Amino acid sequence: MNAPSRMSPAAAEQQKGRGSVHKNGAPRILDRAFARLLQRRTRFGLEGTGAVEHLVRASGGKEAPAGAPAFLVGHQMEVAQAGHASKGAIRIQNVDKVYHAREGAVQAVLDCSLDIRAGEICMIVGPSGCGKTTLLNAIAGFHEITGGTIYLDDEMLCGPDKPRAEPGPDRVVVFQNGALFPWKTNLENVTFGPLVQGRLTKAQAAEKARGMMADAGLGGVEHNYPGEVSSGVRRRVEIVRALMNDPKVLLLDEPFRALDSLTKSVMHEALLEIYYRNKVTIFFITHDLEEAIFLGHRVAIMTTRPCKPKKMLEVDIPHPRDYSVLTSPRFRELMEETVNAVHEEAVKAFEAGEKEM
Ligand SMILES: Nc1ncnc2c1ncn2[C@@H]1O[C@H](COP(=O)(O)OP(=O)(O)OP(=O)(O)O)[C@@H](O)[C@H]1O
Ligand SMILES: [Mg+2]
Repeated sequence: MNAPSRMSPAAAEQQKGRGSVHKNGAPRILDRAFARLLQRRTRFGLEGTGAVEHLVRASGGKEAPAGAPAFLVGHQMEVAQAGHASKGAIRIQNVDKVYHAREGAVQAVLDCSLDIRAGEICMIVGPSGCGKTTLLNAIAGFHEITGGTIYLDDEMLCGPDKPRAEPGPDRVVVFQNGALFPWKTNLENVTFGPLVQGRLTKAQAAEKARGMMADAGLGGVEHNYPGEVSSGVRRRVEIVRALMNDPKVLLLDEPFRALDSLTKSVMHEALLEIYYRNKVTIFFITHDLEEAIFLGHRVAIMTTRPCKPKKMLEVDIPHPRDYSVLTSPRFRELMEETVNAVHEEAVKAFEAGEKEM
């Protein structure tokens, strides 16, 4: 990603390795790791609100939790934890979904209950065909449920008297196969939503889009068409486009599935950086267990069809995270726990005829 363009003078000074901003006598922690933190965190918009001062104050007062990357200090830990967003809590209560196909009824979801906190990244994993997309579609309002209730911030989206949620800009879906308009530039794709809704003027939308694209490392591709950039860049454009609507919830259905592992790892860090700037609730379906643990505050491991949570895994590795956590012992432990839980369901699904995890 490009170097941040809006770095505060203090942060810039630190990056050059000169001088100190520790005016309040807090311990001097400007080692290489701290410099790296500044470099990275300034992208999260903290510099404009006195990030360096926050960091210095925090370093004087709070300990980073056990297992936290060494460069994290108190305030940074808090900023990145789930639950700091005030909106976007999803409550799925006893939800059922039956499809009436030609071959007969298919019970895709049965008595599924799941509480997702506002501002949480909740990863959903489970065997192929278990009902994950069905659940996402119900939240998005793409189809009806046959039982139970789904709430967004205590407001009922769908329930007994209203089986289908109203789709709305408060819940935006990013699909597996992408959905950018190929005839529009990346910038035009990103500004499309607020312009169509009449929420922003052209100038306002362009300004907001340019800012968000720059934050997502997309400065320089605004005037390219989606077909002219890599698939990883296209994915980022889509995520920024989704966030342009200021949604409460981002619904992601295997958005990085088609990407190679290197591009995927770049996307993971990019997504986290975007998330740290735009606290939304993220409902993220994946088959990639490493992706699930790296990104998620929690991982919901679903049963084979009909789908409901079999196990909720709390990923107690603090955010902000970077790829160094992948080699930590705790990460490996969580992977093992997830693999074991998923394996049992995958075997059941396989025996039932589904051939993929
Ligand atoms: N429109 C439909 N009509 C009938 N059956 C359907 C329909 N959509 C999905 N199903 C069935 O419901 C079950 C759950 O499907 P769903 O797409 O939610 O699974 P999934 O967990 O997202 O799978 P994958 O991981 O492969 O994407 C599957 O058995 C599927 O065949
Ligand atoms: Mg699916």
